Amino acid sequence: MATKKSLCWYVSMVSIIISMVVWNSKPFITESISRNPVDIRNAMSHVKKENSQNVLPILNKQKKINEKYLVYLCDEKRDCGGWGDRQRGIVSLFILSLVWKRTLKILISTPCDIKPYYKPTKEYNWIFTEEELKRLRGKRNKTLDFMGIDEPLFDINLNSSEIADVLYIRTNCYHFLPIAQKYAKFLPAYLKNKGRASVFRESWNRIMIPTDKVLSEVMKIESSGVINSDAKKSGKELVCAHLRTGLTENLYYDYSGFPPVAVTKLWNYIDGHFHNKSRIFVATDHLGIRKSAISKYGTRYIGSYASNVHPDSMRSNLTLACRSQESAYVDQLMLSKCDVLIYYRKSGFSIHASYLKTEWRNIYSIMKNGKSTFSLEEAHYN
Ligand SMILES: *[C@@H]1O[C@H](CO)[C@@H](O)[C@H](O)[C@H]1NC(C)=O
Ligand SMILES: *[C@@H]1O[C@H](CO)[C@@H](O)[C@H](O)[C@H]1NC(C)=O
Ligand SMILES: *[C@@H]1O[C@H](CO)[C@@H](O)[C@H](O)[C@H]1NC(C)=O
Ligand SMILES: *[C@@H]1O[C@H](CO)[C@@H](O)[C@H](O)[C@H]1NC(C)=O
Repeated sequence: MATKKSLCWYVSMVSIIISMVVWNSKPFITESISRNPVDIRNAMSHVKKENSQNVLPILNKQKKINEKYLVYLCDEKRDCGGWGDRQRGIVSLFILSLVWKRTLKILISTPCDIKPYYKPTKEYNWIFTEEELKRLRGKRNKTLDFMGIDEPLFDINLNSSEIADVLYIRTNCYHFLPIAQKYAKFLPAYLKNKGRASVFRESWNRIMIPTDKVLSEVMKIESSGVINSDAKKSGKELVCAHLRTGLTENLYYDYSGFPPVAVTKLWNYIDGHFHNKSRIFVATDHLGIRKSAISKYGTRYIGSYASNVHPDSMRSNLTLACRSQESAYVDQLMLSKCDVLIYYRKSGFSIHASYLKTEWRNIYSIMKNGKSTFSLEEAHYN
């Protein structure tokens, strides 16, 4: 996870974003209005269509002559943070790879290889092929560590002849938006003049596709329980929350997570605002909160049942690591498919679930407010 310093910074940054409520938002959501289990794939095919209309494929061919690489690296040598940190690092390097015309590669080998869970798109094959690795043997490589320090990424000059052909970077970059803004003129239209949520979603969906293994788990959860037709008509049939307390982990910093005692207040909010036969999905790292949700909602509760362990703290047990990673991927995708999403504003995992939400409406953010309660507000993205 991030250092204390960058985390504090992050909190203030997130509050700024949240307070920048943008009402004249462009209705991106109209591009993916269908809500069925293949939503993710529909979103992909939209992306593909748009890509084939622009010049990217041509550029890709030209690049092969003297191809250089920018590689997101997460290996056993150092911590790389939770899934939220990793997602930010990947998105940041994707943006920089477009600016500097380098081929993006992604290496996540710890605690469990990412490839069984996420696969590349046609446009951006981020998996090193055997042929590429063979070709790269004689090339210069270098590894840079930018965990918790983003500044170097702003000013890095990848045009410089000094810089290695294969540049590995470890980063959990919070500042991918300022980077996109700084280099806007080098970026495609879909990343120009966009907010943080758009830059994230547009980037992410262009590179990362969940595998069938993950999608089938998501679909299983999504179709479980009883879907009430009146609740469905309300448009808010599936109500989801991500409540990260940070209390069950070996955290190296003071994480101000959701206070478990405040959970009754949240159930009251859900009761007061959504249909009383809606289904409830709650992803949390706190067993007490999960038990409370199960006893409160009974058969309306459809998950999550996943254990929630921080990836950097389970490197010693591969079975546990892979199982836990898979359920984190599944839970986040599940959260992104709900009609209503209540997310925790201090968790990158949670925030990214909201950015990836199929439709950008009915999104609420919550934030700890004192020891035992929280504040809640509606979020608006563009
Ligand atoms: C980087 O270059 C060194 C020296 O040529 C080589 O030993 C090493 O295997 C390379 N590492 C990677 C990850 O390509
Ligand atoms: C990198 O160099 C190329 C070729 O000189 C130039 O066209 C491009 O604008 C430079 N990129 C950046 C981000 O400065
Ligand atoms: C659910 O809401 C309906 C309509 O408002 C009401 O008639 C019903 O009693 C409620 N059911 C429960 C279990 O609260
Ligand atoms: C690894 O985790 C699994 C699942 O929690 C557990 O069953 C197993 O005993 C653990 N192995 C070791 C060596 O701790």
